[in-house]
Amino acid sequence: MSAAWNHNIHYHGRMLRAVPANCGLALDVGCGYGLLARKLVSRCAGVVGIDRDAACIASARAAAAGDSRIEFVEGDVLTHRFGDRCFDFVVAVATLHHLPLRAALVRFAELLRPGGVLAVTGLYRPETMTDFANACVAWPVSRVLRSVKRYEEMGAPVQLPRESLREIRSACGSVLPGAEVRRLLLFRYSLVWNKPAAG
Ligand SMILES: C[S@@+](CC[C@H](N)C(=O)[O-])C[C@H]1O[C@@H](n2cnc3c(N)ncnc32)[C@H](O)[C@@H]1O
Repeated sequence: MSAAWNHNIHYHGRMLRAVPANCGLALDVGCGYGLLARKLVSRCAGVVGIDRDAACIASARAAAAGDSRIEFVEGDVLTHRFGDRCFDFVVAVATLHHLPLRAALVRFAELLRPGGVLAVTGLYRPETMTDFANACVAWPVSRVLRSVKRYEEMGAPVQLPRESLREIRSACGSVLPGAEVRRLLLFRYSLVWNKPAAG
């Protein structure tokens, strides 16, 4: 059977390629049903998935049952106490727009060890002609992909994005200097940031 597909899964490969070499512990923020967390174990020594939705965490735990490399936590990423753990890789797919933008970026940066990598696939609020022109191309592409792939509803809680791509770039510019923010075709953007190594 072909792999499940939706707009978020479409960009999992991009997130996985951002995992640093010799990755120890990864954090999947807003892990939903845990599909990306399960993929991450092939590239990281351990994975923590956190989601504040109890049903998501119950399903994620059931799907990964028996894999001691993955831990799923029901909690709020902004306030959850991870103890003295910090992460080599923090990833958030379709989750950042659920959070207060700047506070979340600061929190993600704090959770990373020096030299670690943050990778985000995010949604933005369309506001410019370029955004709407992009959507005009993205819709038919999305419909075709949906018809030829095994489309799977995400299931996890959803929310409309508040911030535009311009506002997201601006926040990244001040909170995460050097971050790379790229528009992606299917109504999303990617953000990759390398936390400077302690020096
Ligand atoms: C749109 S879903 C994306 C789920 C998954 N990453 C995916 O791509 O299928 C956003 C997820 O973020 C979770 N979420 C929202 N705010 C959160 C918070 N403060 N802490 C942890 N998870 C949160 C929601 O419960 C939801 O499961």
